[in-house]
Amino acid sequence: MNPDQNPTDGVAAVTAHPHRDTIVVLDYGSQYARLIVRRVRECRVYAELLPWDAPADRIRALNPRGVILSGGPNSVYDPGSPSLQDTVLDLGVPVLGICYGMQLLAHHLGGHVRPVDRREFGHASVTLTDTGHPLFRSLPDQPDVWMSHGDQVTALPDGFHPIASTPTCPVAAMATLPGTRHAPIMALQFHPEVAHTPQGLALLRNFCLDIAGCSPTWTPGSFIDEAVDAIREQVGSARVLAGVSGGVDSAVAAALLHRAIGDQLTCVFVDNGLLRKDEPRNVIASLGEHLGVHLVAVDAAEDFLAHLAGVTDPEHKRRVIGERFIRAFEREARTLAAQGGPFDFLAQGTLYPDVIESATPESKSAAKIKTHHNVGGLPADLAFRLVEPLRYLFKDEARAVGSALGLPDDIVWRDPFPGPGLAVRILGEVTAEKTAILREADAIFVGEIKQAGLYRGLGQVFAVLTDARSTGVQGDYRTYGHVVALRAITTDDYMTADWARLPYEVLARAANRIVNDVPQVNRVVYDITSKPPATVEWE
Ligand code: XMP
Repeated sequence: MNPDQNPTDGVAAVTAHPHRDTIVVLDYGSQYARLIVRRVRECRVYAELLPWDAPADRIRALNPRGVILSGGPNSVYDPGSPSLQDTVLDLGVPVLGICYGMQLLAHHLGGHVRPVDRREFGHASVTLTDTGHPLFRSLPDQPDVWMSHGDQVTALPDGFHPIASTPTCPVAAMATLPGTRHAPIMALQFHPEVAHTPQGLALLRNFCLDIAGCSPTWTPGSFIDEAVDAIREQVGSARVLAGVSGGVDSAVAAALLHRAIGDQLTCVFVDNGLLRKDEPRNVIASLGEHLGVHLVAVDAAEDFLAHLAGVTDPEHKRRVIGERFIRAFEREARTLAAQGGPFDFLAQGTLYPDVIESATPESKSAAKIKTHHNVGGLPADLAFRLVEPLRYLFKDEARAVGSALGLPDDIVWRDPFPGPGLAVRILGEVTAEKTAILREADAIFVGEIKQAGLYRGLGQVFAVLTDARSTGVQGDYRTYGHVVALRAITTDDYMTADWARLPYEVLARAANRIVNDVPQVNRVVYDITSKPPATVEWE
């Protein structure tokens, strides 16, 4: 099991999540549903995404102070289109519908929704017709908004009035008249969650804080306090084993667990010989020496390389690495259990996007392009319960928690690194010599990017050792050396990515240093392919 990968399927125990005021976002299938959750959290209010048909008990268990209905691709008149459960309105808390969420509210409550002549997509200037509505507090009278809809509300349900319009959409927003319902309902035809609606965050803040009455208390500090209590309650006096990889997720999970349960936590760090330059040393220094986490480092480099000998197929490499990882982790777990007693819990750095993804039907049927989850789980006889203290955090929230716990920037801001490590960045067979070459070239490139202040703006930055050889000339000699490819990408979600338009000077410096300092390399190329059609990694 690789500590920075998705949770092991089928293991049910989770860490109870700690929070106070909550907004529930019901997912009606919009690509922006998760963005709504993120935006609400930017207002320092805890939000959770649930499917539109989530059981009533699940919604009530969160005790939400407000509910947001997301957009979605359907029309309310489509047969079988997602509907509004009575539970939502029976909660007696403010409700905000967005796009499909607005049309659904209108339809459900007796209004009319009709297709527009031509699908409206893009910028619009909306006129606020009820500027005194609390949703619009501190907004200009004509904010720019982002529209994307094929249907719109043409007749309002009883008890509602229009609060905004555009030339093509007379009811661009609607709300209940004061005193008509126990809790106010309001809805927007446009999307406040996207960056193209500049006042969108203010609007969501008005809903969450002023209308739903949430306190803005969702901060790294409050999360840590509450997570510490929840971990203590879940784990009691049991021992917890955690794998750490050097990636941000497992490091933050380990630091948080250590804050909660101190020496009841043991971390195992398997050095597979496929890590980046100085990575093992940094992990041991920052978690072990700096934070005082009980960290056992296992040097398994020889074992991994021996089993990778002659393996050239990328998927085969992943399988070998997954298998060796389990064996190494398992051996260490048994030794540690024999020394200090059994471990009841296994800690994982699972993040919220993994949780959302494994709950959606699409994720189950989605074609896997590469075997990312290259490890099939731990052997059955090492039966642990899971503790996943980060399972309600987005990556940037996990980073903020990591900083608040005292992890160094080098760990907290590290870009994602695949479980199989440098093995999928060395095309063809992996050898100790090739890993050494790639490690140096990679460190030079990443170093130059950091030096230029570009690192945090990029999704991933790395070097690849291609299996091409090329002719060069160094001094008076012709050489026949390795070709290194540099890859730097920008991305929101790693599902799609663009190549980074790096300044030529930065590329020139990196290439120059690589061919000078890494003698086996005589040519450097820059990868200018987006994903799709290419993937981020070369294998
Ligand atoms: P691709 O190459 O599929 O990568 O575009 C998308 C993201 O996934 C990472 N990646 C992996 N992560 N095990 C992992 O843990 C893997 O086998 C693996 N392959 C790719 C890649 O680094 C990028 O962030």
